[in-house]
Amino acid sequence: MKYIQIFIVISLLITNISNSETTETNKPLIFNEAKILLKETAKQYKNTLIEGLQHNDLKKALKYCNKEVEKLISKDNEKDYTIKRVSLRPRNKNNYPTLYEKEILEKFNKLSLEDNKYLALEHTEIIKDENNNNKFVYAKAIRIKEVCLNCHGSNINNDLKKEIQKLYPDDRAINYKLNDIRGAFVMYRNIKD
Ligand code: HEC
Repeated sequence: MKYIQIFIVISLLITNISNSETTETNKPLIFNEAKILLKETAKQYKNTLIEGLQHNDLKKALKYCNKEVEKLISKDNEKDYTIKRVSLRPRNKNNYPTLYEKEILEKFNKLSLEDNKYLALEHTEIIKDENNNNKFVYAKAIRIKEVCLNCHGSNINNDLKKEIQKLYPDDRAINYKLNDIRGAFVMYRNIKD
């Protein structure tokens, strides 16, 4: 009888330990999954943008940083993740950050000034959402590359500039320089405790 009790206690202990281990090991797994997913999305986004620019019609290319990217992003939303693009100086006002995202962007900007202009900046965290559920967050800074200056730099083609102002009268996404932080991709996923 005594042995059985000891056995039960030990079994319970083991189950508890392995349970907590599962949740712990899941976290790095989610981090990794999110990183890979974002890498793929960002690569597709850059390729689509370059493809658009190769048509040599910048007005046409405008939609590649716009609707085409939206399509890529919403496709990935099916995998339990929400992916947003946010910026402290957005072109589209729907891309203003929340207060929480603003802090991440400000941290990225600060680190970028202190360190160097090439550092890949990331932020990972588990936060509580409004319903007290755990939410996994992964944010990655988006830097300005040469190709981006066509539409986010300080020397934008006049026709294109007019087109941008027509579509986005409140545009704040100009005068960026190479390697500046343009904004960030922010991914969210609900996770169990
Ligand atoms: C052909 C013009 C064009 C080029 C080139 C371009 N963008 Fe954009 N970008 C836009 C437009 C238009 C929007 C607004 C999209 C929308 O309505 O959501 C935008 C929006 C964004 C946003 C979302 C935040 C915001 O301002 O609304 C980010 C981030 C961004 N661009 C980064 C980049 C990066 C990084 C590059 C280079 C790899 C780049 N863009 C190249 C036109 C361009």
